[in-house]
Amino acid sequence: MHNGAPLREGFVEAFGVDPQLRRRRIGTALQQHAARQCRNAGCYQMRSRSPLTSVENYALKIAAGYLLHPSRENDSYYFLRRL
Ligand SMILES: CC(C)(COP(=O)(O)OP(=O)(O)OC[C@H]1O[C@@H](n2cnc3c(N)ncnc32)[C@H](O)[C@@H]1OP(=O)(O)O)[C@@H](O)C(=O)NCCC(=O)NCCS
Repeated sequence: MHNGAPLREGFVEAFGVDPQLRRRRIGTALQQHAARQCRNAGCYQMRSRSPLTSVENYALKIAAGYLLHPSRENDSYYFLRRL
């Protein structure tokens, strides 16, 4: 709770780009779109969880300003981004 209102968090379950179309900022645009939607829904932060093996996901999220929360749960990292 904050100032009497519940804190709302946006969660990105999964996102992906066709392998033929990668490194053209499409994944970044998808993240920006999700962030706009979360802001519009009144969220104060975003969260996602990804496997340790996804190097490109890790690189994109760090470049997009996410913070990393290491976890061994399901061999995944948690990523958090303040909106
Ligand atoms: C992760 C994914 C969505 C990225 O999509 P994309 O459109 O290629 O990403 P972008 O072009 O927006 O990349 C943005 C930045 O992320 C980093 N990045 C992305 N792919 C990278 C790679 N393979 N190696 C290193 N850095 C990478 C770079 O900093 C890149 O900026 P730059 O190209 O100017 O150097 C895509 O690789 C994918 O679908 N992967 C498989 C599914 C997946 O892991 N989904 C996420 C977890 S659910």
